[in-house]
Amino acid sequence: MKTRITGTGSYLPEKIISNEELAQWVDTSDEWISTRTGIKKRRIAAGETAGEMAARAAKRALENSGTSSEQIQMIIVATCSKEQCFPSLACQVQKAIGAVSAAAFDLSAACSGFLYALNTAHAYIRAGIYEKILIVGTEVLSDLVDWTDRSTCVLFGDGAGAVVAEASEEGMDGFVQYADGSKGEVLTCKGRSRKKFFQDGEEDGKPEDSYISMNGQEVFKFAVKKVPECIEQVLEQTGYEKEKIRWYFLHQANSRIIRSVAKRLEEPEEKFPMNLMEYGNTSAASIPILLDEMNRKGELVRGDKVILSGFGAGLTWAAALLTW
Ligand code: UT7
Repeated sequence: MKTRITGTGSYLPEKIISNEELAQWVDTSDEWISTRTGIKKRRIAAGETAGEMAARAAKRALENSGTSSEQIQMIIVATCSKEQCFPSLACQVQKAIGAVSAAAFDLSAACSGFLYALNTAHAYIRAGIYEKILIVGTEVLSDLVDWTDRSTCVLFGDGAGAVVAEASEEGMDGFVQYADGSKGEVLTCKGRSRKKFFQDGEEDGKPEDSYISMNGQEVFKFAVKKVPECIEQVLEQTGYEKEKIRWYFLHQANSRIIRSVAKRLEEPEEKFPMNLMEYGNTSAASIPILLDEMNRKGELVRGDKVILSGFGAGLTWAAALLTW
C-alpha cells in the first residue's frame, strides 16, 4: 500500500514585513537580502499561535481532500517553534478540528520536519496500521529570531501548511532520510528557557543562547551537496528517470540553493517552484505551503511524479518521490 496526498491546506498570517521595513531596524538592505536569498517579504504572526495556524491549515486540507475530521486516525505536527512543551501542537490541532479518533504527536526535525513527518506517516500506512493521516508543518520563527541580528532575522517567516495522506494504490514511491548530529552546531536554537536556579553565581540559559544562531555558509555548503545527493538516491531507489519528474518541491530557504540544486541535477529551474520571495524561510511549513499553492493553482495533476526535499538543523535532510 502506498501513501497519497489527497488534500492540501495552508495558513499565512496577515502581517507582512518587507525587506525595506526590516532595513529601518537593522543594518541591511532590500538589495542585500534579495540578491543573497531571493526573499522580498515575510509573514509575521501577530497574536496567532503555531497551534492556531496549524489548525487553520489542517481544516483547509481536510476540506480540500473531502475527508471529515472524524476519519483522521493520526495527526503529526512538524515544528521547531511551539510555544509550550506540552500538550503537543498535534493534540491542540486534534481538539480544534474535532479529530476525536486520532492519535497525535509532534515531530522535531527542523526544516526537514515535513519530510520526516510524511515519511513517518507513510511507514504507518505501509504497515497497514492507519489509512488516513493528517500532517502539518507550522512555525512561528519570529519568536525565535533575534531581531537585532541581521544575519538571521531577514531570513525567516511564519506560517503553516498541511496535507491529508491516505492509503492508496498509487502515491509515495520511495524516500530517503538522514541526520548528522556531529554538525549540529552550525544551526542551533537553544530555546527560551530561563532557569531560575543558580550555580556558582551563574544563571543557566543565557538569553543570547536562546535565539536562532547559524553559520550560514556551512549550512549553504551542506544543502547544495546533500540535497542533490539524496534526490539522486530517491531516483535510483524508485527507478525513475529525471525527465519523468514534473516538479521538485524543495525547502524554501534560499533561491541560490534551489538554483544550485537544479544546476547540479542538470534539470531546468522551471521545475523548481518557489514562494520564498513572499514568505521567507518557514522551516517545516515551507514545503506544504508551496504544495498547497501549486495544488490550488491547478499545477498538480493526478499522476504527476514529484520530488520533495527538505534540509536543515540537526543537521537533517530527506527526499521523497511520489505520484500525485
Ligand atoms: O532552513 C535552514 C537552512 N538555512 C539555510 O539554508 C541558510 C543557508 N545559508 C544562506 O542562505 C546564506 O549563507 C546566507 C543568506 C545566510 C548568507 O549569505 P552569504 O552569501 O553566505 O553571506 P555571508 O554570511 O558570507 O556574509 C557576507 C557579508 C558579511 O559582511 P563582511 O564580513 O563581508 O563585511 C556579513 O556581515 O554580508 C554581511 N551580512 C549582511 N549584510 C547586509 C550578513 N547579513 C546581512 C544582511 N544585510 N542581512
